[in-house]
Parts: sequence; C-alpha cells; structure tokens
Amino acid sequence: MEYFSLSNQVRIPKLGLGTSHSGGYSHEAAVYALKTCGYELIDTAKRYGNEGLLSKAIAESQRNREDLFLTSKLWPSDYGKSTTKSALLGSLKRLSVDYLDLYLLHWPLVPGWCSNPKQLLEETWRELELLYDEGLCRAVGVSNYTEDDLIEMMNYASIVPHVNQSEFHVLNRSPSLLQFCQDNDIQFEGYCPLGKGTFIKIPAVNEIAQQYGKTPAQILLRWSIQSGVVTIPKSTNCQRLRENIDVLDFSLADRHMAVLDAMHVGRCLKNREGMQEKLDNDLPDGYKLGL
Ligand SMILES: NC(=O)c1ccc[n+]([C@@H]2O[C@H](COP(=O)([O-])OP(=O)(O)OC[C@H]3O[C@@H](n4cnc5c(N)ncnc54)[C@H](OP(=O)(O)O)[C@@H]3O)[C@@H](O)[C@H]2O)c1
Repeated sequence: MEYFSLSNQVRIPKLGLGTSHSGGYSHEAAVYALKTCGYELIDTAKRYGNEGLLSKAIAESQRNREDLFLTSKLWPSDYGKSTTKSALLGSLKRLSVDYLDLYLLHWPLVPGWCSNPKQLLEETWRELELLYDEGLCRAVGVSNYTEDDLIEMMNYASIVPHVNQSEFHVLNRSPSLLQFCQDNDIQFEGYCPLGKGTFIKIPAVNEIAQQYGKTPAQILLRWSIQSGVVTIPKSTNCQRLRENIDVLDFSLADRHMAVLDAMHVGRCLKNREGMQEKLDNDLPDGYKLGL
C-alpha cells in the first residue's frame, strides 16, 4: 500500500474500500478485500447501516486493528454538544474497536428543527476536536464541504480538518476546492471515483486503458491518486475489488493526465438539496442495504 500524510503526520492509504449502502453489502467481498487483496482503509458511516457487518468481516479477516484505517461519519441528526460523543461511541461499539482512524462530519447540513445552523455546526466541530484530543479518533475531518463551508469553519476551528471527503471523478475534479484543500493542508478524499460504475464506458478512458494494458476502472483510480486524492471505490464483487486495488504499479504520463483532467464538466452525482430532503424525511440508517 502507498500513503499520503495528513497534516498531523497520520498516514492515510491512497486507496480504500467504499462501503456505501447504495448497491448493497457482500460479506464475502468485504472479507476478500481485507484478507486477500490487502485493503487497509475502510470507509463507512453510521448512515450506511453496515458498521456491525464490517466488524464481522474484520474479525473473519484476522487483520490486526492497527494495520487498518477505519473511517466513519457523524450523521447530521446526531450533531450537537450532547449527542456527538455518544454517536461516536455507538460507531466504535458496532465496529468493535476502541478508536477510529478518521471521523468525519457527513454533511454541512443540519436537521430541520435546528434554528441556528452555524452554531450547531460549530458546536459539533468543537466536540470532534475534543474526541480527537481524547484519542478516540486519530484524525478528524469533514465531508461534502465546499470552499465557502471551509472558509466559514476556519473562523472557529482550533483544528483545521485533516480531511475533506467530497465527490471527485473525471467529470468533476473540483479544481478550486482541491486547490483550496492543498493550500490549507487538508487532504482531499474523493468519492464516486468510478461515477458509480458508469464512467468505465467513456471512450477516451477506454482508449487510454488500452495503451496501458489496464482496465478503464484502473485508469480512473490511478488518475485520482496521481491527482493527490485518496480514492475509495466501492465494489461487492471479488474480481473487481482485486482490479481496483491493482493500481499502484504503474503511472499515467502527463499527457494522459491532461486528457483526463480536460474531461471536467462539473457534473455532480450527489447534491446538497437532495440530501437535505433525505435528512428531513428521517429515513433509517442503511435504508438502501436491502437486508
Ligand atoms: N461522504 C459522502 O457523502 C459519500 C457519498 C458517496 C459515496 N461515499 C463513499 O465513497 C464510496 C465510493 O462511491 P460510490 O460507491 O458511490 O461509487 P463508485 O465507487 O464510483 O462506484 C461503485 C459502483 O461501481 C461498480 N464498480 C466497482 N468497481 C468496478 C470496476 N472495476 N468495474 C466496473 N464497475 C465497478 C460497483 O458495482 P459492483 O458492486 O457490482 O462491483 C458499484 O456499483 C462509497 O461506497 C462511500 O464509501 C461517500
């Protein structure tokens, strides 16, 4: 595995395993990823409803806790002074571990009952800073934060977030957000690197793949890593899990990076308004798992 270094010197794997509830969960695939392929980083969230399932996969893989990089996320309905710590303890319990490697605020959104969003987000970040000081997470960060959200946060944060996890793929490489993060020593972690599996059909990606003797997915993932971004593709299929991690043994030439960079059209696969609606509808965690 290869690593980027966070601003607090914690090492984060350049590639990890996405586990969103969208598309379901496979115990066999999760064990295979950990035991056979050597994935270290697992990206989960209370929202995905699979922390308990992942705990079983980790146990079956017999991987040592300290060789893994476990990320979970705080869902906005748990934001607040009195609820943040118990939500983290809940994640730790379900994952059967006593610390996380990275804990993220899942969205810069607040539930409908909240009359002072700025205050709630500020208080919640303060709680994360305290949990970091307590050693319950080795790094803290945010997810889906825009440049404006991060600038607002800089007014009150004692700890600049170590990570911002946000959408990052060839059709949306968020150039100014990425630059802002790099300028402020915030590691960019990119989700939906394969455009939920649909971008492997893009002709130009296929052409580059042929030149390297790699698959289109491997080109997309390699491009993320070479852009300085941690990438967390999800798969429930053992063969594709192997394919996705085998991207550390080659490099894309500058001219191919430029072709992929030029595909940016700012397409968003996730949007804030849709997420606010889901939050307000109070859907249960893991509602897409189909268990
Ligand atoms: N912080 C946030 O708000 C947020 C939002 C979205 C996602 N995320 C995180 O980022 C992770 C990745 O994003 P994502 O799951 O939405 O999208 P993604 O990783 O871009 O795509 C996953 C889809 O691609 C397919 N796939 C995987 N490898 C493939 C390959 N080599 N060839 C062809 N198809 C392949 C998978 O199907 P199979 O399972 O059939 O292989 C799955 O349907 C999530 O799982 C989650 O952990 C975070």
